Amino acid sequence: MDNKSVIKLSSNETPLGTSNKALEAIKNSASNPARYPDGSAQQLREAIAKFHNLNIENIICGNGSDEILSIFANCFAGPGDEIVYSQHGFLVYPIAAKAAGATPIVAAEKNYKADVREILKVCSNKTKICFIANPNNPTGTYLTRQELIILRKELPQNCLLVIDSAYAEYVEREDYTNGIDLVTKYNNVACTRTFSKIYGLAALRIGWAYASQEVIGLLNRIRLPFNINTIAQHAAVAALQDREFIANAVRHNNKWKPFLENELKKIQIEIVPGVGNFVLAKFKNIEHANACYAYLENNNIFVRKLAEYGLPDFLRITVGLEKENVFICKIINEFIKKY
Ligand SMILES: Cc1ncc(COP(=O)(O)O)c(C=O)c1O
Repeated sequence: MDNKSVIKLSSNETPLGTSNKALEAIKNSASNPARYPDGSAQQLREAIAKFHNLNIENIICGNGSDEILSIFANCFAGPGDEIVYSQHGFLVYPIAAKAAGATPIVAAEKNYKADVREILKVCSNKTKICFIANPNNPTGTYLTRQELIILRKELPQNCLLVIDSAYAEYVEREDYTNGIDLVTKYNNVACTRTFSKIYGLAALRIGWAYASQEVIGLLNRIRLPFNINTIAQHAAVAALQDREFIANAVRHNNKWKPFLENELKKIQIEIVPGVGNFVLAKFKNIEHANACYAYLENNNIFVRKLAEYGLPDFLRITVGLEKENVFICKIINEFIKKY
């Protein structure tokens, strides 16, 4: 790598860029910005419904899944209500809870994994939503389909279980579910998805949720009318059509995630076994993690510090391109020899 290029491995985007089909759609739809976008995102919802074999009436699209998570919180919780999430869960959940005036409640994890019993322990009739990222960011761990079913059955009936499956495309485990089957089975389960990760459209902000028509109807009442711009809508429709691009991204991840993990293990860095497109690396202590972060930064490599996730002695590294993966391992190796 030359010294000037910046390597960004901090936000779990795909390193493979964007599908040519989506890029073409972006160019074509950029020519008429004078008109408002389609407020119902009809074409996009149709494309999602067709791709996943769902009913279009059960889909809502948002300005990134972040917006959808926040709509969930605003719609179903307010002052006096509680929203439960797990100890190292995605940080948008407490933000969305607080913004809605609700109280975020943390459930302890075991071995960096959400724990059904601990979640149930902190639930009460005040709990309106339980957010679970599956797999979770930044830990990469996941609850099995069976664990999610137990959770759903034992949560209070009027608590909505929202399964955030932002990294679902990367997971190839038999006991995993992206949540779609559970939404179909239980009317108090919803799942969210994003075009920001494997689809390579993070900058355009597109996410969606699948839930019962009743839940979608409620979410739509507070969704702002033109929440997804035209370029994003067209790009996402085109991205869904490029199945080879997605398959390639999965292959890439399956090759390079184990590479990163193995290289780091060789130098005594502990890895939390995860199934996303990122690696959670444990350092000797907080100072060691911070020093490694600084060392990487000095080499123009950016990874994610995790103090705000309660993991100050860890760094999260997104799987990059081949040369980026090789380079970061070389630099961490160098760091470990010195510190
Ligand atoms: C678990 C999880 N959910 C949701 C998101 C947000 O994605 P979006 O870009 O669709 O808002 C992220 C992004 O980092 C994530 O890791």
